Amino acid sequence: MSESEHTDTLTVDIWRGGQEDGAFQTYVVPHMESQTVLDVVTYIQRKLDPSLSYRFSCRVGMCGSCAMTVNGKPRWTCRSHVDSVSENGRIQVAPLRNMPVIKDLATDMTVFFDKWQKAKSQFVPTDGDASDFMNVDPASRERKAASAGIECIGCGVCYAACDVVEWNPDYLGPAALNRAWTLVNDARDGDPDGHLRAVATDAGCHACHSHQNCAQYCPSNLNPTASIAGLKRKVFAAALKGRL
Ligand code: SF4
Ligand code: SF4
Ligand code: FES
Repeated sequence: MSESEHTDTLTVDIWRGGQEDGAFQTYVVPHMESQTVLDVVTYIQRKLDPSLSYRFSCRVGMCGSCAMTVNGKPRWTCRSHVDSVSENGRIQVAPLRNMPVIKDLATDMTVFFDKWQKAKSQFVPTDGDASDFMNVDPASRERKAASAGIECIGCGVCYAACDVVEWNPDYLGPAALNRAWTLVNDARDGDPDGHLRAVATDAGCHACHSHQNCAQYCPSNLNPTASIAGLKRKVFAAALKGRL
């Protein structure tokens, strides 16, 4: 919205209630300079309706807990300025897609993090001598690939943006697969084939349709689509060599 369209108030439609029995409720709040969507939600909870449930922590784009659907798109609300997302002085705020709604804007992220477990997204230490540091060349192809995906903060925005997750609830999703890719490329990890085996299932990397929604919406500018494409290549190569 341009300055000339600045309004003194904002009309905010907020999802209230559960997934099945909820509905949008409309609030009018003061429109301030440099106001974020999280500021608006917080204003409503503090001044208009203390029963509004939502989640946030850092307010500076580091924790990922404030992700919601704003005007139909998944976003970090603490990094979304009202003036860049409002339309004619109005915004709509809903919970993230593809996760059960606990209440109002708070989702249950259990299914999202369970899929990280299913993708075997934990680092596996080697059995080797731990008394010495492993030298990893930061310019190596593998380290660059791992570093490109390492800054994920687990916000769930990509998961909410992924249509395949909506169609196939078993699909591991972009964040868990991106994490698996960083481990497969980590020279210090002791079980790269174990990670590949975990993602080579029907619900794993081959289910991705490469339509890039995850990369388009990731606020950390990561590219899970590229990570998943890398996993597909590694799974194929490992299968050809009889390792999977
Ligand atoms: S590229 Fe793959 S993981 Fe990303 S949104 Fe599309 S289907 Fe989902
Ligand atoms: S890949 Fe990006 S959008 Fe997805 S969980 Fe990580 S930081 Fe969030
Ligand atoms: S509150 Fe931490 S990223 Fe928004």
